[in-house]
Amino acid sequence: MNYDTLKISIQQAEDILFKLFHIKGKASVLPGEVDFNFRIKVANSEGYILKISRPNENDNYLDFQQKLLQFVQDNGRNLITPKVICDNKGKAISEITDDFGNKRKVRLLSWVSGRVWSSVNPQLNDLRFSLGEQCGRLTKALQGFEHPEAHREFEWDVAQSLWTKAHVNLFKNEEKAIVQYFQNSFEKHETTYSKLRKAVVHNDANDNNVIVSSDLIHPKVQAAIDYGDAIHTQIINDVTIACAYAIMHHNDPLEAALPIVKGYHSTFTLQEKELRHLYNAIAMRLVISVTKSAINKIEEPDNAYLLISEKPAWEVLEKWRNISADFAYYSFRNACGWEAHPNENEFKNWVSKQSFKFTELFPSIDKNEALQLDLSVSSKWIGHQEDFNDLDVFQFKINQLQKKNPHKIIAGGYLEPRPLYTSNSYDKIGNYGKESRTIHLGVDFWLPEHTAVHALFDGEVVLAVNDSGEKEYGGLVVLKHKTHQLEFYTLYGHLSVASATKNKAGDIIKKGEKIGVLGNAEENGNWVPHLHFQVMLSLLDYKNDFPGVAYYNQIEVWKSICPDPNLFFKSEALQNTIKNSNEDLINYRKQHLGKSLGLQYKVPIKMVRGAGQYLMDQFGRKYLDTVNNVAHVGHEKYEVVKAGQEQMALINTNSRYLHDNINDLAKELIETLPTELSVLHFVNSGSEANELAIRMVKAHTGERDIIASEVGYHGNTNMCIDISSYKFDGKGGSGAPEHTHIFPLPDAFRGKYRGGNSAEKYAEEVQKQIDMVHKKGRGVAAFIIEPIISCGGQIELPKGFLAKAYKRVRAAGGLCISDEVQVGCGRMGKSFWGFQLHDVVPDIVTIGKPLGNGHPIAAVACTQDVADKFANGMEYFNTFGGNPVSCAIATEVLRTVKREKLQENALKIGTYLKDELNMLAQEFPIIGDVRGQGLFLGIELVDANMNPLAAQTDYLANRMKDHGILMSTDGPDHNVLKIKPPIVFNEANAAELIFYLRKIFAEDFMQF
Ligand SMILES: Cc1ncc(COP(=O)(O)O)c(C=O)c1O
Repeated sequence: MNYDTLKISIQQAEDILFKLFHIKGKASVLPGEVDFNFRIKVANSEGYILKISRPNENDNYLDFQQKLLQFVQDNGRNLITPKVICDNKGKAISEITDDFGNKRKVRLLSWVSGRVWSSVNPQLNDLRFSLGEQCGRLTKALQGFEHPEAHREFEWDVAQSLWTKAHVNLFKNEEKAIVQYFQNSFEKHETTYSKLRKAVVHNDANDNNVIVSSDLIHPKVQAAIDYGDAIHTQIINDVTIACAYAIMHHNDPLEAALPIVKGYHSTFTLQEKELRHLYNAIAMRLVISVTKSAINKIEEPDNAYLLISEKPAWEVLEKWRNISADFAYYSFRNACGWEAHPNENEFKNWVSKQSFKFTELFPSIDKNEALQLDLSVSSKWIGHQEDFNDLDVFQFKINQLQKKNPHKIIAGGYLEPRPLYTSNSYDKIGNYGKESRTIHLGVDFWLPEHTAVHALFDGEVVLAVNDSGEKEYGGLVVLKHKTHQLEFYTLYGHLSVASATKNKAGDIIKKGEKIGVLGNAEENGNWVPHLHFQVMLSLLDYKNDFPGVAYYNQIEVWKSICPDPNLFFKSEALQNTIKNSNEDLINYRKQHLGKSLGLQYKVPIKMVRGAGQYLMDQFGRKYLDTVNNVAHVGHEKYEVVKAGQEQMALINTNSRYLHDNINDLAKELIETLPTELSVLHFVNSGSEANELAIRMVKAHTGERDIIASEVGYHGNTNMCIDISSYKFDGKGGSGAPEHTHIFPLPDAFRGKYRGGNSAEKYAEEVQKQIDMVHKKGRGVAAFIIEPIISCGGQIELPKGFLAKAYKRVRAAGGLCISDEVQVGCGRMGKSFWGFQLHDVVPDIVTIGKPLGNGHPIAAVACTQDVADKFANGMEYFNTFGGNPVSCAIATEVLRTVKREKLQENALKIGTYLKDELNMLAQEFPIIGDVRGQGLFLGIELVDANMNPLAAQTDYLANRMKDHGILMSTDGPDHNVLKIKPPIVFNEANAAELIFYLRKIFAEDFMQF
């Protein structure tokens, strides 16, 4: 039938509504496959949904629908459902005649308010769990409902999905292959599938039929609407459909499905045998969807509803095809609380009665005791990435260890999170940013090349290959074993290629026979010789290799598929001691560390390793660090680490002895500073640097009154707190002390004076403070400020302000201190120091954070005059300041900035990032301001009335963390996002940062 003759206009819908129900409402079109549906808005009510059938609608079907709704209403306690509204004549189903003389059935249901699933962004695990829960409740509420119409033929019923086979020629190439794959697989398992328990189920929890609460941070699914597809079918199909739609738009659809299954199981208990079919059932629902789209494109090209899900359905199908059906099954089992692999317990039971010696695996090595080698992310033994990637160093360390422990086999690694897998083949983009495989699934035995490996039990060769490539297995053999109850596999990686491939698939290797010998780096994937020994209860779909390392978020499933190889040997030394929780650490901290020492993020992270612009937690998760301007030239920069280690090995004493290092560091710094700033003092922290600077100005001027900016922060000591408005005007503070004089934050965006011409006005504010000091009959000692005010929210000083302020302060006899603790050492890009952006030369410069790249060293640079006046006879002694180790480190930091042109990098990447952020601000008006220099940037979030949006800023930082990107917030109103990464940050890092910012800015909570 021609689609145009079926359509009902909005006006017609409103007329029908009034005629039949005496309701005056505003109609708008809703999507629908069969019925023509209208949302009806009415003043002072939630409104309605008006459903107008196609001609010749089956009466039985409508009866079924109304009874079904009534049943759920009666049985589903706590379930929100659309209610049936009767017409003027008290009928639940009315009738009209359309313009073409066709009889059409009309129904009115109450509107279930909330947001439609498809409009909710983001759809996180908690929300998907609640989708599962809600679907489970609905399945439960429908238990016992029966109606003859529920047993109809229906194309959307997964149980009947093989009708799609007749249409497979609508597809070509890859798409056809995917569709056929799932059709065949479904058909193959149809006998067992058909025996699964059945009931009438909702059968359509698709993304337009699920209603979500309006809470934007913790949304919950409230209801499923549109019962039009309800049918008597396999119960598992209900959760199947919820999954099929709610996993769209995810890089890893399986991971996205798990909370749904878990939630469903929590309210309606699934059976293990049902889970067996879930993977195929989800695929077949999508096959139905794409087949119907293909057909309808020909039959009803105007019906957009039929095409809504086509593209995302294909995307899921392609990804789903690449997921092993077995792995999906095990994951579903794990989500429901069963052992992931159904044979896990049986295997453990069997193996508990077995006992093997290491000498059975390695008869040529006469050792039966193991020494556990820690190669985990936090292992000090493996040390720096440069070291563990140097095979000579690694081998040397193994040899040393073996020498010290001649009677033990060096081994270990089961479930260890390792940082060793640095090749890209170990990374992927998951649902929450980059993920790396880090969890080691086997046990490694660190033995020399040529060591023979023998079989512990009879087995059949299933794989004997050269798994070539960087950090792969090289020579690899997998054996299949059978006990009288079960089958399992053992894997031998890093063999010599010749010895591995001498075996052929199908060969039988008897207990005690040789499997192969260990290979060297050239043929074992570029490793120090060792055996990777792993046990598997399933080969999944792997044909030429098998993972030896897994993603952390799948650890529960993998450890079930790959049980601990030490179950054979029962060596105490190889017991797994890895802790998964940070709870102990947090509790101890709470008891024994000062309460004012806060933790970052709602769920704190334990960082155990740094590398360049990345930090790694104890599970090996990598975080891109956009916060840490302390790790200036990159976390654990090799040359800097080495400089410290080497000097530490020689001598570390105080600066009263002569040493080249302190002079070298002074020379490096002086090279970067204006000639006027020619004298240095070395200290241990930014606070100490400012403390010393204040002592200097007091000694120089004989005054003690300091002028500083509102929201400025200069350190944690008594004096520094006294000049830090950020602290004394903040929580726990008690306002400015007598000798501190605060002028308003020179913020041209949202400060007291705004816009391009505010420099003079803020300089006048400084003058007001000078006048105030004079009024009290005292003189000004100093003016201290950062060139970009960090804690104030990355506030760039208005152009010309600093020169004007310095002029006024100096005219009053005061000195000028530039606090470069945050911004110094090349970060600004255009200049090495922040004050150089403003064409001024301070009297004193304080330097901190970046100088030691994490090591506590700081410095004060000053003029000869200031230094001379400070040296008034009282000796300045500093136990640690300027010691040879600290100086070696700081010198190497400054040399690295020069050698690797990192100031230029800060300029280039900072400019790129700022441009991109400005583009983002065009897209998202919530970004009120983008500011900063080089790699010291800030974005400020405000509403249309310039009100600060602290909650949104905090949300953004936490969501970015969820995606593996560390960001920090600041500013007096906590609405500024600070970007100040190690200055090795590169263009790809910047692009990644922008990509995820764009993603999070699009989320519902960020919309204004
Ligand atoms: C601008 C500024 N000055 C001084 C300090 C104090 O440095 P430290 O924490 O090394 O004592 C800080 C620390 O955050 C700072 O941001």
